[in-house]
Amino acid sequence: MTVDREKRKDFLFSFSSSITNCTLYSQEHPITIKSMEKSFELLKDILEEKGSFRISVLEERLFIDEEPLIRRGIVISNIIEKFKIKGLNSISFFAGIEFNEFFEFVTELAKPLKKGGYEIYSRPHIKVGKLFFSEEDRTSEKKLIDLERKVPVFEDIIEELKLIFKGIESSQMTSAGNLKEIVLRLAKGLKESLSPLLLLVPFKSYEEYLYSHSINVCILTLAQAESLGFEGETFVNIGLAGLLHDIGKLKIKREIFLKEGVLKKEEWDEIKKHPEEGAKLLMKVPSIPEIAVISAYEHHIKFDGSGYPKKRYNGFPSFISQMITISDFYDALRTERPYRVKLEHDEVLSLMDIKSGTDFNPKLLANFIMLF
Ligand SMILES: [Fe+2]
Ligand SMILES: [Fe+2]
Repeated sequence: MTVDREKRKDFLFSFSSSITNCTLYSQEHPITIKSMEKSFELLKDILEEKGSFRISVLEERLFIDEEPLIRRGIVISNIIEKFKIKGLNSISFFAGIEFNEFFEFVTELAKPLKKGGYEIYSRPHIKVGKLFFSEEDRTSEKKLIDLERKVPVFEDIIEELKLIFKGIESSQMTSAGNLKEIVLRLAKGLKESLSPLLLLVPFKSYEEYLYSHSINVCILTLAQAESLGFEGETFVNIGLAGLLHDIGKLKIKREIFLKEGVLKKEEWDEIKKHPEEGAKLLMKVPSIPEIAVISAYEHHIKFDGSGYPKKRYNGFPSFISQMITISDFYDALRTERPYRVKLEHDEVLSLMDIKSGTDFNPKLLANFIMLF
């Protein structure tokens, strides 16, 4: 991602929260003003570089200038929703814009629609309008198609991961360097792909399931983290936590995972030890971030505190563990097991929706559903 693209993305996040703040607080409220000032500064910075900047929506997808924004999430959905309510297809900003002009425009954009009009009009340095199919738009369409075709394949990571997991299991692994490289590779694939679903590694065998599932949970958790605005080292550490969440399964008897048919209570009790085993293993690797240890321990603790291991402290599982719980459940149910059938994408999401607030953090789940 170029610096310019990062700036434009920062602006979108700030713009979205300015719109929300306008609906929550009065125009004079310091939170509204501070948020507007931040968005305006980011916008001015972009306009200084390139003179104009356009946000447009085409078939539920947001474009920044000619580029489609490939990730959805609560922030982007908020902007798309405002476009829909106001009947807009594009907003273009031009250099020379003043703070008052921007402030009034965002305030109007945030207002609910009254009968008889869109209530939002162009201003000297802000043009609103219907998107027409110019040459530029056709280029965007073509880019979308190209991106859809270019899906990286991550199955080769399985072999690499087997070696790394073995190193951690035998306490011979002292650095998280290789793991970070894998996370960065998956993150790059995610940025280039239209949907995280296109990147998921298909189930091949129960022998390889731990590794394909770990890669998938990493991808889905990175997608959540990106949509929520996590960046830099924290973003990578969240990916690492996703990749390592089930490593404790290495300490569980293989026969249980390979067993065909329904598991006995003792076998389930054995499986339920994997979060603690995982945390113990990861604690021995000095460069593994603390959050990976915590989420290995907590990923089967539900939002309401039930699940396993038994929670011995007050409060919710960590925010990252809550994200991993969502990714983990989704990927697990998309795979057939000896004791249950594989569910389709929509079936899994409906089932998860029923468990919103009990098994899953409702806000994180709502954001997760919007990723696809
Ligand atoms: Fe697990
Ligand atoms: Fe898992």
